[in-house]
Amino acid sequence: MKALVLAGGFGTRLRPLSCTRPKLLLPVANQPVIDWTLRSLAEHGVDTVVLAVNYMAEAMVRYLGPTKFNLGILYSREERPLGTGGPIRKAESFLRDGDPFFVLNGDVISDIDYSRLLEFHEEAGGLATIALYEVPDPSRYGAVELDGKGRVRRFVEKPRPGEAPSNLVNAGIYVLDPKVIDYIPEGRAVSTETEVFPCLAKEGQLYGFEFRGLWVDIGVPEDYLRANALLLERENGVKIGEGVEVDPSAEVLPPSIIGEGVKIGGRSVIGPNCAIADHVEIGVGCRVQNSIIFSGAVIGDFTSVKGAIIGENAMLERWVKIEEGAIIGDHATICDEVTLTRGVSVCPSKRVEESILEPRRVM
Ligand code: G1P
Repeated sequence: MKALVLAGGFGTRLRPLSCTRPKLLLPVANQPVIDWTLRSLAEHGVDTVVLAVNYMAEAMVRYLGPTKFNLGILYSREERPLGTGGPIRKAESFLRDGDPFFVLNGDVISDIDYSRLLEFHEEAGGLATIALYEVPDPSRYGAVELDGKGRVRRFVEKPRPGEAPSNLVNAGIYVLDPKVIDYIPEGRAVSTETEVFPCLAKEGQLYGFEFRGLWVDIGVPEDYLRANALLLERENGVKIGEGVEVDPSAEVLPPSIIGEGVKIGGRSVIGPNCAIADHVEIGVGCRVQNSIIFSGAVIGDFTSVKGAIIGENAMLERWVKIEEGAIIGDHATICDEVTLTRGVSVCPSKRVEESILEPRRVM
């Protein structure tokens, strides 16, 4: 069985982290998003994954190569953005072998049972099945109305207040019959959600498979941090990599994961909900919680990081305070005693010498 993973997005809402890497290589609990997806597909009998790549395609190819977790990996390279449907049309030569295939929004992390989704699709007998997840606020997603038999009566993308037919939303995971490719115009960007699904729904060919469990679309920083916390919780406890040096007076609170070669200085308290990637150095008297720290970052003495994301090789000097929702780009430097408040983001390689107490982007 094949799966097409949409991996071409620019990740604009995750800038500045996505300025220097494709979104699917962002680490969640110390593993790139794409690894969580590929492992789960492999466990459910998928043998070949087609990655639809565009933005920073080379970084994806370099990271994954031709095979991972026993899956064959093929690349469908797009010269320009093709939306969510165009990539399916573009990759048709890989996908038209008569059997249904999975399509996944690459920025979704979930523990959906793909085998049950496929079974449901085959029993329902429609051309397409969408995995559905219940959320409190459907306005950021595509919401559906189902009939009693799991058929989608209506599909409403990004419903305005009062417009959502239910709280069940498109989880960005589908099974499609190859005939669906004929519904996608060639040679231009196409939105599956606004051009293809409403049409299939009208023809009675679209079904919805409701599931519970883990599901997060990491498209915005808060959800990216939430995905990290949820996966750490599932792994449970504290995981410590090889060659880690934790001072006996420091503490690591669960759930947290500490990568290889990390150093943690005396009286520092790390966790809960921290993913500290390889070779991070944390000084003495630091407090790091609910945060993602990319590899090679340095956190100087007496610095506090709460609910923030710190990019690769970024340098926080001493007595720095990084507050909720702040994002520090790769290789940026935050100087001694600087406070960055909620919503501040710092572009890669920038140097910040003075505190910033209102949300803004340092370019
Ligand atoms: C996309 C789809 C939406 C779906 C969501 C799931 O939205 O358009 O229907 O509910 O993915 O993650 P986007 O994340 O691109 O805003």
